[in-house]
Amino acid sequence: MRAKASDMHGKDCVKVAVRVRPFNKRERDAGSRCIISMVSSSIIIQDPRDSQNRRSFCFDYAYWSHSGFTKDQGGLCVPEEPGGRYADQDSVFQDLGEGILENALQGYNATLLAYGQTGSGKSYSMVGYGPNKGLVPKLCERLFQAIRENQDSRQCQVFFSMLEIYNEQVIDLLSRGSRTPGGLRVREEQQRGFYVEGLRTVPCDSAPQVEQLMEQGTRTRTTAATHMNANSSRSHMLIILQLKQIFSKESITKQSNINLVDLAGSERQRSSGSEADRLKEGTAINLSLTTLGNVISALADVAVGKKVVHIPYRDSILTKLLQSALGGNSRTVMIATLSPADICYEESLSTLRYAERAKRIQNRAVVNESPTERLVKELKAENARLLQRLSRLGQEGRRANDETKELRQLLTHNELQIRAIQTLWEQHLQEALKDWEQQYANITQERRMMQMHPYILNINEDAQLSGVVKLFIQEGEWDIGLCDSSQRSISIKGLGIQERHAVFRNEERRVTLTPLAESKVIVNGHAVSQTTELQHLDRLILGSNCTYLFIGYPSERGGDDWSRYDYDYFQSELAAAEGIHLGGSSVGSIQADPSLLAVFYDYIKLIPMVAEANQMSQELNKAVEFGLEIKNLALSDPKGHDLEKEIVVRVTAIGRKQVWIWSKAKFVNRKFLMEEVYQQHQAEKMEGLSTAALPRDKDPFWDPVEPLLLGTAHLWLQSLAFRISLEEQLEVMGSEGTEEAILQAQLVPCTSTGLPLGEDDILIDPSELLGRRLDFQLVLDQCCGLRWIKEARNRGVQIGFRLFDSSQPLYTPAVWHNVNPLLDHRVHFTSLHTSQRLLDYLQSSAVVLELWGLQEGCTDLKSALEGLRMTAEGIIIIEEEGTADTAPLDSAELSCSVRALQQDLEKLRSANASLRKENESLREQLNTARNGGESVRGRSVRPSCDAEFARALKVFYHSMTSVKGQLQRLRRHRPSEESDLLGLRLFVDEHGRLLRDFSEQLEQSVSALKQDVAAIVRRKRERSGIWS
Ligand SMILES: Nc1ncnc2c1ncn2[C@@H]1O[C@H](COP(=O)(O)OP(=O)(O)OP(=O)(O)O)[C@@H](O)[C@H]1O
Ligand SMILES: [Mg+2]
Repeated sequence: MRAKASDMHGKDCVKVAVRVRPFNKRERDAGSRCIISMVSSSIIIQDPRDSQNRRSFCFDYAYWSHSGFTKDQGGLCVPEEPGGRYADQDSVFQDLGEGILENALQGYNATLLAYGQTGSGKSYSMVGYGPNKGLVPKLCERLFQAIRENQDSRQCQVFFSMLEIYNEQVIDLLSRGSRTPGGLRVREEQQRGFYVEGLRTVPCDSAPQVEQLMEQGTRTRTTAATHMNANSSRSHMLIILQLKQIFSKESITKQSNINLVDLAGSERQRSSGSEADRLKEGTAINLSLTTLGNVISALADVAVGKKVVHIPYRDSILTKLLQSALGGNSRTVMIATLSPADICYEESLSTLRYAERAKRIQNRAVVNESPTERLVKELKAENARLLQRLSRLGQEGRRANDETKELRQLLTHNELQIRAIQTLWEQHLQEALKDWEQQYANITQERRMMQMHPYILNINEDAQLSGVVKLFIQEGEWDIGLCDSSQRSISIKGLGIQERHAVFRNEERRVTLTPLAESKVIVNGHAVSQTTELQHLDRLILGSNCTYLFIGYPSERGGDDWSRYDYDYFQSELAAAEGIHLGGSSVGSIQADPSLLAVFYDYIKLIPMVAEANQMSQELNKAVEFGLEIKNLALSDPKGHDLEKEIVVRVTAIGRKQVWIWSKAKFVNRKFLMEEVYQQHQAEKMEGLSTAALPRDKDPFWDPVEPLLLGTAHLWLQSLAFRISLEEQLEVMGSEGTEEAILQAQLVPCTSTGLPLGEDDILIDPSELLGRRLDFQLVLDQCCGLRWIKEARNRGVQIGFRLFDSSQPLYTPAVWHNVNPLLDHRVHFTSLHTSQRLLDYLQSSAVVLELWGLQEGCTDLKSALEGLRMTAEGIIIIEEEGTADTAPLDSAELSCSVRALQQDLEKLRSANASLRKENESLREQLNTARNGGESVRGRSVRPSCDAEFARALKVFYHSMTSVKGQLQRLRRHRPSEESDLLGLRLFVDEHGRLLRDFSEQLEQSVSALKQDVAAIVRRKRERSGIWS
């Protein structure tokens, strides 16, 4: 292709627009705050956790589509008042679409990319929803309008293609044939650059024709997504419009490619801070998106003059196809879409940073001249030459006939070629129009059917793909399933769909559904196995996750709004059936707790994924089962605070009783890899090949066995602050509130040689420990009633724990095959110089004792001793002299404020000392006044009195630890997930009983203390002879 550099435009920076959408339902439920604000074309994002932290960015355009709009009668979103700040689809098109059109008409390549996290509004801006048409359909309308307006000066041809890149495979969304396994190939040619080989390009001459093709493409995308069990948010959708303009007068042809790209959701898979997965993040989850990021970064560096050796265009399919759009021959616009909500802060900030980099990229766009036109021109020129020669030959009349014949042949051939080139377009267009008429007839037919029969409507996670497939249930009996042989069957494909999955019966205007043997059918959240009559707007889930909304006869429909039955609605209903819901009346309380809401949405997001993983596991004979669990993070908090909850996935090897716990991030990653394995398997099955076994180290269903955290128990340290020893029977609780074992443990204050301290060493005032040495031993005596071992005898356990600042846990040696193993493990700790911080820790925290489950084949957990400080006698030092209270000061400001604090402290100390003195003298005066100078006797009473206090306190702390245990139990006491109303009543009774026990115990402890103290005071007074 020959290209002519535009004179006026040397470099073209990528234009960037940012758009912020309204809150969605989840965000409204969570009571989200809007953290985005806009002033003309600059945009400010506020960190929701730090009011001082605001970042501002400036782009070419900023669109406020968050608020200030109403829906008119036709459902079109328009500004509330004329000239309001709300940016509707029209105004976005005015800025971005018109520019692209203008460029294309001038003969430049143009590209429009939509970038942003899932659900941020990329498809809304690009394609649009219902009456709110997006950039692509509007662009097509205007394009054909411009073509009509200019038809005197030029002849135009438009070709339309639509493709999807999923998992580095190119799928032709307009293809009429069956899918090419592995997708279409991307090839490179010197002049053309990268292109998709065999991609269908359809000639178009009207906007409705394009819209209908887009509809067809979306339908293919939807069915491909269910067949392949793929998530459309992970795929990139590309529309390519080729515009060819033939200016016959000037005898030039301009050709431009318009790329319209709806990118995959940009969110990063954040690992939840836990372990990195053995298998790398699904290599191709977003290889294209990652590479696009790298290309943009490299190009942005080039623009600011940094030396860049390599721009990795070739690393992914998407960047190959967009090579000229980025850093090449194209005028490019990016629209970055944002959620306004505080919970999306990280993602929105990352989108803005991405957009900022893209803004720097510089392209060199050129007006393209078509080779076809050149060819015609050249052929014509050659013909002219041939004709001249012929006429000369004729004039000369003495040359052989042969040459004349040869020249005539050449001429005819050339003319045929010219004609072929010129008629090709018309032929193609005729074919495409025929095709279009056929499709149009189909659509009209579908509309008619909708008015006559009940049907089911697909609901997809991606709203853009919902409602695309309609399956009609006419009178009579209809099989639904994979089968497509019989006349009376409705064919669907998808994970877990059986050959004959279920039967629809439509008789006397009533529709029933009967599941067939073993097939999974869920109606309104509940699994059904019997014939069930369907009501208008019932929700159906067939197989693992094929979701449909049932639409009854037209007479039942009324004017109801179906849009509330979105994908979230289906999954929430499933969660509710499992006992997990936002709750009708308690919604208010959840609104106040966004973290709980986040867990809920994680849960409903994972439900279908777990169902799919189980189905794949079953079909591939992997013998593992997946299940969701809600992990209570409070269980590992040393202060026992009610921290957030987290969703984890429990993986169980069927038969072998091995168990793994995967974090959400790990599961999501593995699920993607499973899909890949599954698709490969399907492809091989289709080609009749036998599937080669996957090596274990590449198998996403497999992991080496590892120790499993079964549960925790809290051993409160407060008694140590008083040097009181403590012996406890602790309940080890699993993350879902199950009792995993009973653990006998002790805390024994001791001397530096390990001898236990006596009652005389008990302190009344813990601050006496400040600056002094404190020794104690943690003793783990025995574990009883281990559920883990009861389940399978070939297992073992270890206890892990860490104290104060230590980052590495210590473990008891492993004990195997025993339900009540003796541990007999004793560790001596010391603080050489007790600080206030350590004292606070002792008084407010517990040592969290972790029960780890070992399984056959896994290695024991080892205490990491490297980082530990120890005395020569092997005692573990938890605090050394002078280390604790001095934080490193690295700024003048800090040291200044510390100095001020020290001065304050000094003042307080002296005030305290003088108060003490005054107190002392007052007491003496009092004693002298009452006892007539017998103060010596009064003072001599104190030590024994202190010992009595200490004993009373000891009793009190003992009873308080059991009260604390009771409180923990109460906190974790939850109704069972399967509870019905009766179950709930029983739960409430039980809860009431626990609460009564708790308050009785608390009252008893406090009144015992009161009585003890009163008795001591009475004795003290008697002894000091106050009444004498
Ligand atoms: N500007 C807007 N005004 C009104 N509604 C919007 C706007 N942008 C997005 N929405 C709504 O938000 C939802 C998600 O939008 P959309 O499907 O465009 O997201 P997306 O970025 O394409 O997500 P995905 O990555 O999953 O494809 C849709 O229901 C859409 O109607
Ligand atoms: Mg989308």
